[in-house]
Amino acid sequence: MIKKLIPVYENQTPLVVLELIQGHKISEIMSRNVVSVKPDVTMREVKLMMKDRGISGMPVVRQKRLLGIISVEDLLNALEDGLMDDSVEKHMSRNPVILEEQMPVSFAIDYFENYSFNRFPVLNESKELVGMLTDRDIIMHMIKVMNGEIGRLEELAKHGHHTEIGNVIRRYAVVQNDFKNAGKASSEIKALLQEHDVDRKIIRAAATAIYELEINQVVHSLGGEIVCRISDDHVEVLARDRGPGIKNIDLALSEGFSTATDWIRSMGFGAGMGLPNIKRVSDDFRIKSSESGTEIKVIINLPEDS
Ligand SMILES: Nc1ncnc2c1ncn2[C@@H]1O[C@H](COP(=O)(O)OP(=O)(O)O)[C@@H](O)[C@H]1O
Ligand SMILES: [Mg+2]
Repeated sequence: MIKKLIPVYENQTPLVVLELIQGHKISEIMSRNVVSVKPDVTMREVKLMMKDRGISGMPVVRQKRLLGIISVEDLLNALEDGLMDDSVEKHMSRNPVILEEQMPVSFAIDYFENYSFNRFPVLNESKELVGMLTDRDIIMHMIKVMNGEIGRLEELAKHGHHTEIGNVIRRYAVVQNDFKNAGKASSEIKALLQEHDVDRKIIRAAATAIYELEINQVVHSLGGEIVCRISDDHVEVLARDRGPGIKNIDLALSEGFSTATDWIRSMGFGAGMGLPNIKRVSDDFRIKSSESGTEIKVIINLPEDS
């Protein structure tokens, strides 16, 4: 299936592809204008709708709630049994496998690999249907991103290699307990700064801050994102997550304080030095937190001739 079309190997896959599948969310690539049907529509009507639009499956929805999926196969069965005046509700498949809009694209690729469905409904945090995702959506988006990247590389080749960084923005989705991908943002930004001959101490500072922010989101939050903006004179890192927030910020900032569980500690995390270290290495450090999420903004200056 799609994994064979887009082979992913941790070490060999070009960074653009890795970034696309790990750093982009399903909400960015799904189609939002979803054609859905209400549960009381007849199979006959559904047949017309599918034919008109040339699609092979539709979500069945009542007030934004996804009840099931009706497919061409269900239609054929109803046709064979002479049940075309039945409501869709009677023939749809219930409890469809769904994706959530905040998931990274890598999840979707796994789903297409593991299930034999051609499309997945996408729900938001309130469990409302907000989109549909087909493997075509993934491929189209990938081609778009790669076109952009090739354009950028061609431009770069034309004008020769220069060490000015310009403006770079990188976004990374961080998934709760996903230790496998944690550290990706920091290693990529580190590589990028190295390419531009930035002072090693500053690279280390940026990598440390980003790494600790990623790990904190993996360990302590429900998931979030890290956005890195690099300009000619500074690196700005914005880490935002979806909760549950930090109860006492002063305490959290003190050395050695940690709420990490024994399980987390057994993996080598939870020394309580993350936040203090981030603060120490950064030129500006801001933090706000509530039950709905923590937002930390860090700035690391790049000296003029680094
Ligand atoms: N993004 C976050 N969401 C919720 N709590 C957090 C977050 N980041 C840090 N914390 C809280 O602050 C504490 C201190 O963080 P840190 O200094 O990185 O130490 P550690 O991660 O080793 O516990 C954590 O144990 C946790 O209680
Ligand atoms: Mg930490």
